[in-house]
Amino acid sequence: MTTSLVPNIDWVGYVDWTVRDFHGYNTFRGSTYNAYLVRDEKTALIDTVKAPYAGDLLQHIASLTALEKVDYVVVNHAEPDHAGALPAVLAACPQATVVTNKKCQGILSGYHDTGGWSWQVVGTGDSLPLGSRTLRFLETPMVHWPDSMMTYVPEEKLLFSMDGFGQHYASSGRFDDQEPLETVMWEAKTYYANIIMWAGKPIQRALEAAAGLQIAMIAPSHGVIWRSHLDRILAAYRDWVVCRPKPKVLVVYESMWESTAQMARAIWEGACAQGVAAQLFDLRVNSNTLLATEVLDAATIAWGSSTLNGGMLPLSGGALTYLKGLRPLCKAGFAFGSYGWSRGGAAAVQEMLEATKVEILREPLECQWRPTPEVLEECRKAGAMLAEKATQLSCEMQPGQ
Ligand code: FEO
Repeated sequence: MTTSLVPNIDWVGYVDWTVRDFHGYNTFRGSTYNAYLVRDEKTALIDTVKAPYAGDLLQHIASLTALEKVDYVVVNHAEPDHAGALPAVLAACPQATVVTNKKCQGILSGYHDTGGWSWQVVGTGDSLPLGSRTLRFLETPMVHWPDSMMTYVPEEKLLFSMDGFGQHYASSGRFDDQEPLETVMWEAKTYYANIIMWAGKPIQRALEAAAGLQIAMIAPSHGVIWRSHLDRILAAYRDWVVCRPKPKVLVVYESMWESTAQMARAIWEGACAQGVAAQLFDLRVNSNTLLATEVLDAATIAWGSSTLNGGMLPLSGGALTYLKGLRPLCKAGFAFGSYGWSRGGAAAVQEMLEATKVEILREPLECQWRPTPEVLEECRKAGAMLAEKATQLSCEMQPGQ
């Protein structure tokens, strides 16, 4: 099934209802691999799909035009969820020239046997006339890989934004006004946090470059197409690129015999008593995907781990490694945790928080065996301090500051 965006520009991608893992990201609502067909005097396919779905893509294209009439395949990004089907597409569309940038050409040549391919290498500002419509190219490195590029159709004010503004969200509706908006926004936030949070500055540059374009529709490579709620997603991105904090406290923990869990609850109570949004996040029952989403707009974080073998528990180790790579900005916090005959868990967590550039607010808050009433009171006070800091950070970073 295909979907028309505007006359003679159609979605021809694949809706993947079953995918639940995207290199470690839990895609709870599946995903889509969006490809688009622009038909004019010349015909251009914008991106492809994952390799196993090449047949579906070709069927969609063939329902609109003869495969021999495809003149160009624009590759905005070499990652295999978008370019995996490229060899099959080129085999089926013998007239097609691959249009991409130099970096993408290099990566494609690393993934595929590109010996017989015909290329047109483009860069920012280059245009490809198709007849009544034109494709203009805008390189947006690191959104999401060094090769990433967006393609703009000025006559339609349409931006093919690649991974930018995407969501891992399988749906029957192809547009933002055909699906529940809050669900789509949540998935856009989850996508941003887990895929491109680390690239805030390049995304900011891409937003600035795109600000010079007239845009009526943003067609990303995953999820729904933005045509009715552009203001909402653009405003959200302006917040997310700087990890703009809300007055929100996150208490993350992993507990062996519930002592660290008791400390976590006391910290959370102390934060709640200050009237800010505070959330308890037990790593044993949550995913890293959800953690990154919650971290994106949290101002302060307390992270607790019991001590195991002189260090932190393993879920904390994995989650902190994941988070460090995502490079969240503007966070403050501290580590806590219980220990038995030797210390080590809380200190190891604190070290990772520091390595993640979290502003450290105090020394690790520790207790031996079970927390005493005095320790729990200290936890409540530390929670109150987190709440105050969260309020301060969110006030300092209001939009426009
Ligand atoms: Fe959807 Fe970076 O690929």
